[in-house]
Amino acid sequence: MKSLTNQADKTQAPKHVAIIMDGNGRWAKAHNLPRIEGHRQGTEAVKRTLKLAQDHGIPFITLYAFSVENWNRPKDEVDALMDLLDKFLADQLKELIKREIRLRVIGRFEELPAHIQERLQKTEQATAHFTKYTLGLALNYGSRTEIIDALRAVTKASKSGDLNIDNFDYNDLRRYLQTGDMPDPDLIIRTSGESRLSNFLLLQSAYAEIHITSVLWPDFGEAEFKIAIKDYVERERRYGKTSCQLHNT
Ligand code: FPP
Repeated sequence: MKSLTNQADKTQAPKHVAIIMDGNGRWAKAHNLPRIEGHRQGTEAVKRTLKLAQDHGIPFITLYAFSVENWNRPKDEVDALMDLLDKFLADQLKELIKREIRLRVIGRFEELPAHIQERLQKTEQATAHFTKYTLGLALNYGSRTEIIDALRAVTKASKSGDLNIDNFDYNDLRRYLQTGDMPDPDLIIRTSGESRLSNFLLLQSAYAEIHITSVLWPDFGEAEFKIAIKDYVERERRYGKTSCQLHNT
């Protein structure tokens, strides 16, 4: 396993890194290429990042690959994104198995094209037994729809008597979120310089550290990854306490 940074060796590295992969279109424009080429290069950055996360011993990495709002893009671009995803999963199945990485899809699964659902199911099943590393893929994902779906399930469980709502707290709610079997993200990285969460893991990132880089997603690599991790380990996570309380001073 690679050392993160000297500082990181002393401090706790993130267990769950979630990434808003942004800037594929701008990368393509800057290179006088069609937008899809930006997404294709973005797929290469996905492969690099997955390897980096594993090499650095980060057990959970979640990538925002397609939001519920992304259906509003031109049909050609949506189709091309689905094709890239299909190819990525087909190419990476062996690699995920070899590297013992579990795939976990979050998002409204049943609204994805049937052949993508099939591919995802096959990949999830083939990797379900791996416990050390997880790749979370957010597809047709949006926090607001996720919360609505969770509330529906909670109401149903409460009505049927399976759930007592009186002592209900966030830890109970967590189990109804799509990320229920993953820890909340410690670090959110967003590329391309935009400073917003865009409906991504809104509840789960309540205490996450946020790192924004101006690098466009297709250019994201080891140098940027290390900068983000270093930024994270240098932060003081206080969870509402004072700095003195944390350091007993
Ligand atoms: C945002 O860039 C990126 C997306 C909406 C799609 C992300 C997709 C990939 C990285 C490739 C396919 C994914 C996998 C997992 C194989 P943008 O298009 O909004 O960029 P812009 O803001 O510069 O136009």
